[in-house]
Amino acid sequence: MIDKIKEHIAEVEKFTAETAETVESFRIKYLGKKGILNDFFAEFKNVPNEQKKEFGQAVNQLKKAAEDKVNSIKELLESKEEDKGLYGDLTRPAEPIQLGSRHPISIVKNQIIDIFSRIGFNVSEGPEIEDDWHNFTALNLPEYHPARDMQDTFFIQTDPDILLRTHTSSVQVRYMEENKPPIRTISPGRVYRNEAISARSHCFFHQVEGLYIDKGVSFADLKQTLQYFTTEMFGKSKIRLRPSYFPFTEPSAEVDVYWGLNNEIDYRITKGTGWLEIMGCGMVDPNVLDNCGIDSKEYSGFAFGMGIDRIALLLHQIPDIRMLSENDIRFLEQFKSAL
Ligand code: PHE
Repeated sequence: MIDKIKEHIAEVEKFTAETAETVESFRIKYLGKKGILNDFFAEFKNVPNEQKKEFGQAVNQLKKAAEDKVNSIKELLESKEEDKGLYGDLTRPAEPIQLGSRHPISIVKNQIIDIFSRIGFNVSEGPEIEDDWHNFTALNLPEYHPARDMQDTFFIQTDPDILLRTHTSSVQVRYMEENKPPIRTISPGRVYRNEAISARSHCFFHQVEGLYIDKGVSFADLKQTLQYFTTEMFGKSKIRLRPSYFPFTEPSAEVDVYWGLNNEIDYRITKGTGWLEIMGCGMVDPNVLDNCGIDSKEYSGFAFGMGIDRIALLLHQIPDIRMLSENDIRFLEQFKSAL
């Protein structure tokens, strides 16, 4: 009897099949209700006690061999089926793709770039590690100028000439040194200031600064450009300019947008005034033009600079600036944008 089982095992192991039907009849022959295996199981009670163990083991071995054979041939036939077309089954639903999201800083930055590119501004970039000349001196901020304190600076300890840029005006200096007017460029980028970190301010943040230089550029051009920008960016065209001071512009102004006082949020973000400060600007100081190799008797220009982070907080109602750099995926996932 045991020899008979062993013969079956050898036969099962040799078996191959090319079609699903042959595998199925093989399965029925061995594993079906009236199959060979059930016959052996029924025989079990007639086997003498001392052989029961060996017999049982042999039958189980046969069962396992038959099952394994059926499964492996089925798998083989199925994989051959898939290979038929170059791309397999084209009607099969696609695997879902996990799409990333854009960072709110990038979204706002891209919006600003898009708005200015429509009126002929290009994008310029420069290094975050700067020298004193490009960040300060060329911008009418010579050594010991008190206005250097307006921007608390990270210096590289071993070399006081090297620092982390405090604004992207440094990029504008580089741009003027390398390009002749007319110049229309915006400079987005990360900047650093040695300030205490809180919900409202960070020791690094992002700016977009703009520069326009040509013959006969006037303050009216600046105002018009700002008005175009605020209308496109915020849907608000009412702006006001408050006199201010920057060493690199003269005259200088602070730009406020009239946000309105329509709801509680408006009250909170404008401190009840309805006005929101969004940027600094002014006519480029002639000293700056001359420092950068542009003849200030022939050319004039305007410049402006704004913080991207503050605008992102405002537009997306983000309560804390630190969330922008914590990289919490649950926060970042919420921002979807075409830009
Ligand atoms: N560079 C200034 C700042 O970072 C912003 C500014 C740019 C102001 C251009 C006027 C003109 O605060």
